[in-house]
Amino acid sequence: MGKEEMNTELRTSYDKLFVNNSQWVDKIVHEDPNFFVNLAKGQTPEVLWIGCSDSRVPANEVTGTKPGDIFVHRNIANMCVHSDMNMLSVLDYAVNVLKVKHVIVAGHYGCGGVAAALTGKQYGLIDNWLRHIKDVYRLHKGEIDGIGDQVAKDKRMVELNAIEQAANLSKTTIIQNAWKQRDDLAIHAIVIDLESGYLKDLGVTTTSTSKLDDVFDLTTSV
Ligand code: CO
Repeated sequence: MGKEEMNTELRTSYDKLFVNNSQWVDKIVHEDPNFFVNLAKGQTPEVLWIGCSDSRVPANEVTGTKPGDIFVHRNIANMCVHSDMNMLSVLDYAVNVLKVKHVIVAGHYGCGGVAAALTGKQYGLIDNWLRHIKDVYRLHKGEIDGIGDQVAKDKRMVELNAIEQAANLSKTTIIQNAWKQRDDLAIHAIVIDLESGYLKDLGVTTTSTSKLDDVFDLTTSV
Protein backbone atom coordinates (compact mmCIF):
# COMPACT_ATOMS: atom_id res chain seq x y z
CA MET A 1 0.00 0.00 0.00
CA GLY A 2 1.27 3.42 -0.86
CA LYS A 3 1.25 6.07 -3.52
CA GLU A 4 1.09 3.38 -6.24
CA GLU A 5 -2.54 2.88 -5.17
CA MET A 6 -3.39 6.08 -7.02
CA ASN A 7 -3.91 6.41 -10.74
CA THR A 8 -1.54 8.67 -12.66
CA GLU A 9 -3.78 11.72 -12.52
CA LEU A 10 -4.26 11.46 -8.77
CA ARG A 11 -0.58 10.86 -8.20
CA THR A 12 0.46 13.85 -10.29
CA SER A 13 -1.81 16.27 -8.44
CA TYR A 14 -0.61 14.88 -5.08
CA ASP A 15 3.09 14.89 -6.00
CA LYS A 16 2.79 18.50 -7.18
CA LEU A 17 2.28 19.54 -3.56
CA PHE A 18 5.64 18.05 -2.59
CA VAL A 19 7.41 19.64 -5.54
CA ASN A 20 5.91 23.00 -4.58
CA ASN A 21 6.87 22.42 -0.95
CA SER A 22 10.45 21.76 -1.86
CA GLN A 23 10.62 24.97 -3.90
CA TRP A 24 8.99 26.92 -1.06
CA VAL A 25 11.56 25.62 1.46
CA ASP A 26 14.44 26.48 -0.91
CA LYS A 27 13.14 30.03 -1.37
CA ILE A 28 12.73 30.68 2.35
CA VAL A 29 16.08 29.13 3.34
CA HIS A 30 17.76 31.18 0.62
CA GLU A 31 16.39 34.36 2.24
CA ASP A 32 16.95 33.24 5.83
CA PRO A 33 19.04 30.10 6.40
CA ASN A 34 17.84 29.84 10.02
CA PHE A 35 14.14 30.37 9.35
CA PHE A 36 13.00 26.80 10.02
CA VAL A 37 15.51 26.28 12.83
CA ASN A 38 13.98 29.26 14.62
CA LEU A 39 10.41 28.30 13.66
CA ALA A 40 10.82 24.87 15.26
CA LYS A 41 11.75 26.44 18.61
CA GLY A 42 8.15 27.51 19.30
CA GLN A 43 5.38 29.91 18.43
CA THR A 44 4.40 33.33 19.78
CA PRO A 45 1.66 34.49 17.41
CA GLU A 46 -0.13 37.74 18.31
CA VAL A 47 -3.24 36.90 16.29
CA LEU A 48 -5.95 34.26 16.34
CA TRP A 49 -7.71 34.18 12.97
CA ILE A 50 -11.14 32.59 12.72
CA GLY A 51 -11.89 32.39 9.02
CA CYS A 52 -13.84 30.49 6.41
CA SER A 53 -12.60 27.15 5.06
CA ASP A 54 -12.91 28.57 1.53
CA SER A 55 -9.66 27.90 -0.38
CA ARG A 56 -9.48 31.54 -1.52
CA VAL A 57 -9.01 33.09 1.92
CA PRO A 58 -5.77 31.76 3.48
CA ALA A 59 -4.93 33.73 6.65
CA ASN A 60 -1.18 34.10 6.09
CA GLU A 61 -1.32 35.04 2.43
CA VAL A 62 -4.04 37.71 2.71
CA THR A 63 -2.25 39.35 5.64
CA GLY A 64 1.23 39.08 4.21
CA THR A 65 2.40 37.17 7.27
CA LYS A 66 4.65 34.16 7.75
CA PRO A 67 4.44 30.79 9.48
CA GLY A 68 4.50 31.50 13.22
CA ASP A 69 2.57 34.79 12.97
CA ILE A 70 -1.06 33.65 13.09
CA PHE A 71 -2.88 30.91 15.02
CA VAL A 72 -5.74 29.75 12.81
CA HIS A 73 -9.17 28.18 13.09
CA ARG A 74 -11.29 27.82 9.99
CA ASN A 75 -14.71 26.38 9.35
CA ILE A 76 -17.51 26.92 6.87
CA ALA A 77 -18.59 30.57 7.03
CA ASN A 78 -16.22 31.47 9.93
CA MET A 79 -18.73 30.60 12.62
CA CYS A 80 -18.21 31.00 16.38
CA VAL A 81 -20.76 28.61 17.84
CA HIS A 82 -20.73 28.52 21.62
CA SER A 83 -21.15 24.74 21.79
CA ASP A 84 -18.37 24.02 19.28
CA MET A 85 -15.64 22.32 21.33
CA ASN A 86 -13.19 22.65 18.47
CA MET A 87 -13.56 26.45 18.24
CA LEU A 88 -13.62 26.84 22.03
CA SER A 89 -10.47 24.75 22.45
CA VAL A 90 -8.63 26.82 19.86
CA LEU A 91 -9.89 30.04 21.45
CA ASP A 92 -8.90 28.97 24.97
CA TYR A 93 -5.43 27.89 23.93
CA ALA A 94 -4.86 31.02 21.86
CA VAL A 95 -6.08 33.42 24.54
CA ASN A 96 -4.82 31.74 27.72
CA VAL A 97 -1.66 29.95 26.65
CA LEU A 98 -0.40 31.82 23.59
CA LYS A 99 -1.79 35.11 24.95
CA VAL A 100 -2.73 36.45 21.52
CA LYS A 101 -3.54 40.17 21.38
CA HIS A 102 -6.07 40.05 18.56
CA VAL A 103 -8.88 37.64 17.75
CA ILE A 104 -10.07 38.32 14.22
CA VAL A 105 -13.26 36.89 12.74
CA ALA A 106 -12.75 37.08 8.99
CA GLY A 107 -15.72 36.75 6.67
CA HIS A 108 -15.41 37.06 2.92
CA TYR A 109 -17.66 38.34 0.16
CA GLY A 110 -18.83 35.53 -2.08
CA CYS A 111 -19.09 33.11 0.87
CA GLY A 112 -20.92 30.02 -0.34
CA GLY A 113 -22.02 29.11 3.17
CA VAL A 114 -23.70 32.47 3.73
CA ALA A 115 -25.33 32.40 0.28
CA ALA A 116 -26.63 28.88 0.89
CA ALA A 117 -28.06 29.91 4.26
CA LEU A 118 -30.14 32.58 2.53
CA THR A 119 -31.98 29.97 0.47
CA GLY A 120 -34.60 27.40 1.39
CA LYS A 121 -32.69 24.56 -0.27
CA GLN A 122 -31.35 21.38 1.33
CA TYR A 123 -27.59 20.87 1.05
CA GLY A 124 -27.27 17.81 3.30
CA LEU A 125 -25.54 17.54 6.66
CA ILE A 126 -24.33 21.11 6.35
CA ASP A 127 -27.91 22.35 6.73
CA ASN A 128 -27.44 21.97 10.50
CA TRP A 129 -24.36 24.20 10.42
CA LEU A 130 -26.04 26.74 8.14
CA ARG A 131 -28.85 27.07 10.69
CA HIS A 132 -26.49 29.23 12.75
CA ILE A 133 -26.27 31.65 9.83
CA LYS A 134 -30.03 31.63 9.41
CA ASP A 135 -30.15 32.76 13.06
CA VAL A 136 -28.04 35.79 12.07
CA TYR A 137 -30.56 36.50 9.29
CA ARG A 138 -33.38 36.33 11.84
CA LEU A 139 -31.64 38.97 13.97
CA HIS A 140 -31.23 41.30 10.97
CA LYS A 141 -34.21 40.28 8.85
CA GLY A 142 -35.49 43.84 8.47
CA GLU A 143 -32.23 45.16 7.05
CA ILE A 144 -31.52 42.16 4.81
CA ASP A 145 -35.04 41.95 3.40
CA GLY A 146 -34.82 45.67 2.61
CA ILE A 147 -31.93 45.08 0.18
CA GLY A 148 -33.27 44.31 -3.29
CA ASP A 149 -30.12 43.20 -5.11
CA GLN A 150 -29.15 39.61 -4.27
CA VAL A 151 -25.38 40.24 -4.48
CA ALA A 152 -25.68 43.25 -2.16
CA LYS A 153 -27.88 41.20 0.16
CA ASP A 154 -25.30 38.39 0.32
CA LYS A 155 -22.50 40.89 0.94
CA ARG A 156 -24.30 42.56 3.82
CA MET A 157 -25.10 39.17 5.33
CA VAL A 158 -21.40 38.28 5.15
CA GLU A 159 -20.63 41.47 7.09
CA LEU A 160 -23.39 40.96 9.65
CA ASN A 161 -22.38 37.33 10.10
CA ALA A 162 -18.76 38.27 10.87
CA ILE A 163 -20.01 40.94 13.29
CA GLU A 164 -22.35 38.50 15.06
CA GLN A 165 -19.65 35.80 15.29
CA ALA A 166 -17.26 38.32 16.85
CA ALA A 167 -20.03 39.23 19.30
CA ASN A 168 -20.44 35.54 20.09
CA LEU A 169 -16.78 35.41 21.10
CA SER A 170 -17.23 38.25 23.57
CA LYS A 171 -20.04 36.25 25.18
CA THR A 172 -17.69 33.38 26.10
CA THR A 173 -16.20 33.11 29.58
CA ILE A 174 -12.84 32.53 27.87
CA ILE A 175 -12.80 36.07 26.49
CA GLN A 176 -14.56 37.72 29.41
CA ASN A 177 -12.20 36.23 32.01
CA ALA A 178 -9.20 37.22 29.91
CA TRP A 179 -10.50 40.80 29.74
CA LYS A 180 -10.66 40.85 33.54
CA GLN A 181 -7.01 39.86 33.70
CA ARG A 182 -5.47 41.94 30.93
CA ASP A 183 -6.12 44.97 28.75
CA ASP A 184 -4.26 43.84 25.65
CA LEU A 185 -6.87 41.66 23.98
CA ALA A 186 -9.09 42.94 21.18
CA ILE A 187 -11.76 41.20 19.15
CA HIS A 188 -12.34 42.31 15.57
CA ALA A 189 -14.65 41.53 12.66
CA ILE A 190 -13.38 42.01 9.13
CA VAL A 191 -14.25 40.93 5.60
CA ILE A 192 -12.02 39.96 2.71
CA ASP A 193 -13.08 41.31 -0.67
CA LEU A 194 -12.23 38.47 -3.04
CA GLU A 195 -12.54 40.70 -6.11
CA SER A 196 -9.89 43.18 -4.92
CA GLY A 197 -7.95 41.16 -2.35
CA TYR A 198 -8.33 43.91 0.25
CA LEU A 199 -9.37 43.45 3.87
CA LYS A 200 -12.05 45.70 5.33
CA ASP A 201 -12.42 46.37 9.07
CA LEU A 202 -16.09 46.36 10.08
CA GLY A 203 -15.68 48.86 12.91
CA VAL A 204 -16.80 46.68 15.81
CA THR A 205 -13.49 46.19 17.64
CA THR A 206 -14.19 45.26 21.26
CA THR A 207 -11.89 45.21 24.29
CA SER A 208 -14.35 44.82 27.17
CA THR A 209 -17.79 43.57 28.20
CA SER A 210 -19.11 47.14 28.50
CA LYS A 211 -21.43 46.94 25.50
CA LEU A 212 -22.84 43.52 26.34
CA ASP A 213 -26.37 43.03 27.54
CA ASP A 214 -26.39 42.19 31.27
CA VAL A 215 -27.44 38.59 30.73
CA PHE A 216 -24.39 37.99 28.55
CA ASP A 217 -21.91 39.66 30.92
CA LEU A 218 -20.76 36.77 33.10
CA THR A 219 -18.14 38.73 35.01
CA THR A 220 -20.35 41.01 37.12
CA SER A 221 -20.99 38.56 39.96
CA VAL A 222 -17.72 36.65 39.89
CO1 CO B 1 -16.95 31.20 2.91
